This record gives sequence, structure tokens and C-alpha cells, in this order.
Amino acid sequence: MKSSWQSPSNIALVKYWGKHGRQLPRNPSISFTLSQARTETHVVANARERGENVALSFVFEGQPNAAFEKKLIKLLSGVLEELPFMRDFHLSISSSNSFPHSAGIASSASSMSALALCLCDIEAQLMGNAAEGEAFLQKASNISRLLSGSACRSVYPWMGEWGVCGTMEGSSDLHATPFVPHDIFKSFHDDILIISASEKSVSSTAGHGLMEGNPYAEARYQQANRHLDGLLVALKEGDLETFGRITEDEALTLHALMMASSPSYILMEAGSLEAIQRVRKFRQETGLPLYFTLDAGPNLHLLYPDSIAAEVAAFIETDLRVLCEKGRVIKDFVGLGAGKIEE
Ligand code: DP6
Repeated sequence: MKSSWQSPSNIALVKYWGKHGRQLPRNPSISFTLSQARTETHVVANARERGENVALSFVFEGQPNAAFEKKLIKLLSGVLEELPFMRDFHLSISSSNSFPHSAGIASSASSMSALALCLCDIEAQLMGNAAEGEAFLQKASNISRLLSGSACRSVYPWMGEWGVCGTMEGSSDLHATPFVPHDIFKSFHDDILIISASEKSVSSTAGHGLMEGNPYAEARYQQANRHLDGLLVALKEGDLETFGRITEDEALTLHALMMASSPSYILMEAGSLEAIQRVRKFRQETGLPLYFTLDAGPNLHLLYPDSIAAEVAAFIETDLRVLCEKGRVIKDFVGLGAGKIEE
């Protein structure tokens, strides 16, 4: 049995920050599915004598990687109940990213969704089912969530929403739901300013944990629900101004929550703040709809419609590239989601 899938990273607009139980989100979130930043994963499953544990070997970018292998055994042991076939097979997993490992880009969303898709595909083959359709993607999204929360949103084209939301039919805490925005967002750009490629001082998983004692947590979860309701309308109508306001509020709230955690911490750098000020000044002076968001790190994601790509490219050269480590900017776009690689 074997399966190969590629799956993209995603960038959240309303952020998932805080979780409980078995990888359940404290609030609903939504993201753009990206296209350039991708992971390609191949899994070969060979029958073995039934075992209680997961048995696998892992090769990353052509090299055996013992540290990732250990982490994967732990993660996949947590989904044996959902994918019981793993007790009867040894898995040879190999994986590579389209973006450099040390570029400061989160890879858990693309890597965990690509792996989940391969495993769900092998399970479907064993059951004689086709690895396609709504039920298949929903299961793959569910497994992705259990491996890394935000990964569940990567499997769908354009946008994925995750978490129960009153105004979104079919929404669930267990898996993401596809969301089709207004056409203007389908060709949106996401240029990532690599302010720093260093490893984060506090992981996202630890950050989620710190939300438990955060005095602003309850107000934050309510705000995220309000933001999502407003954003869904703006995304449907193509209302860029409301989109930008909510998206930037979310980015700064995420970092404010880190600063208000105990212990407090800061993932933004001086260059992140300077870039934010320059983007806002550019918008004020030109009236062009250029907005930013931040992940749990210092790098700024520039979000804008394709119609202003030339102006933004010029602005990056004159004002923003100097703020980036080694002048690095990674250009990405909203994309079509995960896909099976036929061999
Ligand atoms: C800031 O999905 O990386 O990117 O579930 O612990 O693996 P785990 O966390 P992760 O958290 C991502 C947080 C975020 C916001 C988001 O993508 O919604």
C-alpha cells in the first residue's frame, strides 16, 4: 500500500489561540489556504504482525531524521483509535517542503495535513473506497487537527474555517469546513517578510497552554466569535476595508495575548513593528488595500488583491526588504488546497 499527497500551509485571519480537551479549539478560526509553501509526503505501508504501537521510519528531505521520527511516533500513537490499520502495518514516511526549513515559516500545517491525507488514503484503499469526496476530506481534516490544530484548515481550496460558528452551516470543532470567498480573495497575495528566521522562543503549543491562565481569555474568545461573524460577511461581499480591519485587529490581539500571558513573552521584533508602521503609512498615503497579519512569530504576512501587485512589489523594494533578514521575502498566493500525487 502506498500514497503520496502534497498539502499547503495556511495563514489564519481569525486566530486559533487556546485549546482544551483533545485538540479542541477555544474559539473558531479561519484561514487562507496558501499555494507555494507546501509539503510533499510519501507513505509506504508494509504489512507486519499486529502490534500495540505505531511502527515507522521517517526520512526528511532525503535524510533519516531520528528526532522527527520520535515525534511522529508519539503523534500517530494518539490517533491509533481513528486509524486502527496502523497496528497491522509498518509505515515508511518521507517528506519534503517546498520552502527552506529555516525560513521561519511554520511547517506543521502543511506537513501534518499531508501526512493525514496519505494515511486516510491508505485506509480508504484497504476498505476499497476512493480517496476523494466530502467524507474523505473531512476525515483527513479531523486527523490533521489531532496532529496539529491549524493543519485541519489546509486541506480545502481557498479557505478553511474550523470551530463551531453560529453563522456557518456545518461548522465543527472536530474538523474544518471549506469556505468559498468572493472572487477577489481567490487570487489574493500573501508575501511573507522574513524579519527573522530564528526558531521561536516559545512554541505555539506552549502558547496555547498559557491561554489557560490568561486574565483576558474569556473576552478574547468572545471577540474571536464576533470577528469571525463580521469577517465571513466581508469575505462573501468582497469588502476589503472590513476584511483588513478585522484581520489586523486579530494579528495584534494574538501578540497582545502573548504579552499578557504569565510568564509574558514577545515574539515580534523591532523590524516587525517598523514594517507594520510602514504598511499602515503606505495605506494611508496611497489608499491602496494592503493589509498585514502575523503568525505566532515575527514575520509579517502582506495580504492584498492581485490588482495592486505591481504597486506592492515596488513598495517592498523601496521600504520593506531592508527590514528582512538577508533581504528575504517569500511570495505566496491563495491556493487550491491539497492534492494527491499520482505515481
Ligand atoms: C498562531 O496549530 O501550530 O498559527 O495545535 O498545538 O499544533 P497546535 O498549534 P498550531 O497553532 C497555530 C496557532 C496560530 C494561529 C492559527 O493558525 O490559527
